[in-house]
Amino acid sequence: MQASSEPLEDAEIGVRDRVVARMANDRQSGVQSVTAGGTSAAAFQRGRAASQTDCIVRFVGVSKSFDGSTRVVDDLNLEIGRGEFLTMLGPSGSGKTTSLMMLAGFEGVSSGDILIDGHSMRGVPPYRRNIGMVFQNYALFPHLTIAENLGFPLLARRMPRNDIRERVRQALDLVQLSGMGERRPAQLSGGQQQRVAVARALIYQPSLVLMDEPLGALDKQLREQMQLELKRIHARLGVTFVYVTHDQTEALTISDRIAVFDQGRIRQLASPAQLYEAPESVFVAQFLGETNCLGGTVVENAQSSCRVTLETGDIVLAPPAIGLRAGDPTVVCVRPESIQLSAMRHDGPNQFRAEVLERIYLGDHVRLRLRVCGNDDFLVKLHRDSPMPALHAGDWSFVRWQPDDCRALPASSGANKAV
Ligand SMILES: Nc1ncnc2c1ncn2[C@@H]1O[C@H](COP(=O)(O)OP(=O)(O)O)[C@@H](O)[C@H]1O
Ligand SMILES: [Mg+2]
Repeated sequence: MQASSEPLEDAEIGVRDRVVARMANDRQSGVQSVTAGGTSAAAFQRGRAASQTDCIVRFVGVSKSFDGSTRVVDDLNLEIGRGEFLTMLGPSGSGKTTSLMMLAGFEGVSSGDILIDGHSMRGVPPYRRNIGMVFQNYALFPHLTIAENLGFPLLARRMPRNDIRERVRQALDLVQLSGMGERRPAQLSGGQQQRVAVARALIYQPSLVLMDEPLGALDKQLREQMQLELKRIHARLGVTFVYVTHDQTEALTISDRIAVFDQGRIRQLASPAQLYEAPESVFVAQFLGETNCLGGTVVENAQSSCRVTLETGDIVLAPPAIGLRAGDPTVVCVRPESIQLSAMRHDGPNQFRAEVLERIYLGDHVRLRLRVCGNDDFLVKLHRDSPMPALHAGDWSFVRWQPDDCRALPASSGANKAV
């Protein structure tokens, strides 16, 4: 069941060709304001600006319930910029696939509306939405060659054979499978078959491509290779990608922006760097990468810093925290790679005695599990080249971190709690 396998009118194909060509031109001349694969804060800003001025998809107050009571997608509002690589990231069951299926038209919305190019998609069937799709299960026809698999839907649209041959050649070239057109799917590896599935979604030159965990069946090395490849293809075509994954590393690698889903809602929508460095909730801080959490109470949230008393009575200084006031419960989050160890106490804030509970050697870095301020799961990640005291289980040390490297977040913003 693929949107892209439905025949479309030739006239529509012509329009699409022109749109894609225009987008490619814009990209070359630098007019297009969404950067492909940009992960910097600047790219995020540009992405935002583009999504406001030139947005291809809008979810407007979209909710979905299958049983009439539980909302598996709950008041979703999201704008996707033209040419953007947007990833929906979240734990299993958080509503990512349902959101994508509603965008594709395979599921109806219970309330709200989805707009593509400013037009409501209510009552518009999947094959009229000009969308290409890639699923985890790539489902190629086993009895057809790769070229026939790719050309089949174009043939069904009665495209001239010479044009089909050229389109297939370009598509194979795009996914680096030139010369493989005469093979059958069984003669390709899993990774190569998935490339064919990507080529098949792109062969119509749709302006919007949706992918639902497309690399989930591949092993780690192949997955990482394909992530870079998808990013390259996206940059080359300038087409909008909406990508679903539960894999945070994958999301960080490939996306312009990431929408973090939890229980049918978007917890935060930002660039990878912004999400990692400035999570707005404990949920996001924990879901993207590792983080150490220390519970406490806000003593003072001033313009220069937020002062927190931990449950142990220790004081932590963090940057000013949005939405917190003196007396509020908070969780201070600090990344394992932001922590320094030393044998002696230095001047400055955020220094605590730490007992080493475990040492794990991982080649390029060493992980230490420590007891810090009553937390027995306090992780420190030391790069191989960093000056590293020879610490082992049972040793004592001091940990410290810069106030700018931690965040005081609302205590109620963890997993499975409303924010
Ligand atoms: N066709 C369906 N009928 C009933 N419940 C469904 C259906 N599809 C999904 N769900 C439920 O909706 C929730 C969200 O599912 P889904 O969108 O597939 O999540 P994700 O892709 O984030 O793992 C889950 O609780 C799931 O069981
Ligand atoms: Mg899913």
